[in-house]
Amino acid sequence: MEYKIPNHVAIIMDGNGRWAQQRGLKRTKGHEKGADALKKVSEYVYKKGVKVLSVFAFSTENWKRDKEEVNYLMNLFLTAFKKNFGAVKKEGVKVIFSGIPDKLSDKVLNAMHKMTEETKDNENGIFNICINYGGQDEIVNATKKIAKEVKKGTLEIDDINQDMYNKYLFNELPPIDLLIRTSGEMRISNFMLWQAAYAEFYFADTLWPDFDEKEFDKALEEYTKRDRRFGAIKKK
Ligand code: FPP
Repeated sequence: MEYKIPNHVAIIMDGNGRWAQQRGLKRTKGHEKGADALKKVSEYVYKKGVKVLSVFAFSTENWKRDKEEVNYLMNLFLTAFKKNFGAVKKEGVKVIFSGIPDKLSDKVLNAMHKMTEETKDNENGIFNICINYGGQDEIVNATKKIAKEVKKGTLEIDDINQDMYNKYLFNELPPIDLLIRTSGEMRISNFMLWQAAYAEFYFADTLWPDFDEKEFDKALEEYTKRDRRFGAIKKK
């Protein structure tokens, strides 16, 4: 089957904890396997021709988890970023981060900064990693930046529109075409609310550590069948 290839794919990588619990393992083991899955899947996604991949690695709400789990995740990010992992090295993609830097340790921030610097000239795609990210936060943050400009007199109220709003978000990204959530949950959970306005949603029952190339193909197959009208009526 010839797949239609989405330009921007976003993934809510859910189910790491349950994957581990089902096996009588610690939740952190699920995150370790989740990182392996991301490495493999990200490489495949760009190989298929997708240009932008956004992943939800840590939400503003995830700080509420046990300290041990939060620390484990932060160390996992640190190790992964130090290694320029997965698609970054193999596919030559540019890494960017979305989220609020507050609360992240200097160690993690430095590794993020280094990875952004080292990959800034890569042109084969964009890997947007969302850490300490919330979609409503992103919109509020953009609104504040816009309001400040209006107050300063560098922007007119009438010049505020959907296209320019994009420039004030954490990163200027194209709209999401396909949004995948694993583990059977059917929620958006405050992920990329602005960018997901017309996204096609694909929910997989598979837990994130088990999500692989075949599973991604299933998502592409489903996406290919969808009739995207963007609010218009289909022309015959
Ligand atoms: C959700 O599963 C997953 C997370 C909160 C962490 C996602 C992180 C990774 C996949 C690690 C790799 C990331 C990078 C960028 C190296 P959950 O723990 O909420 O699962 P549950 O709902 O079964 O408890």
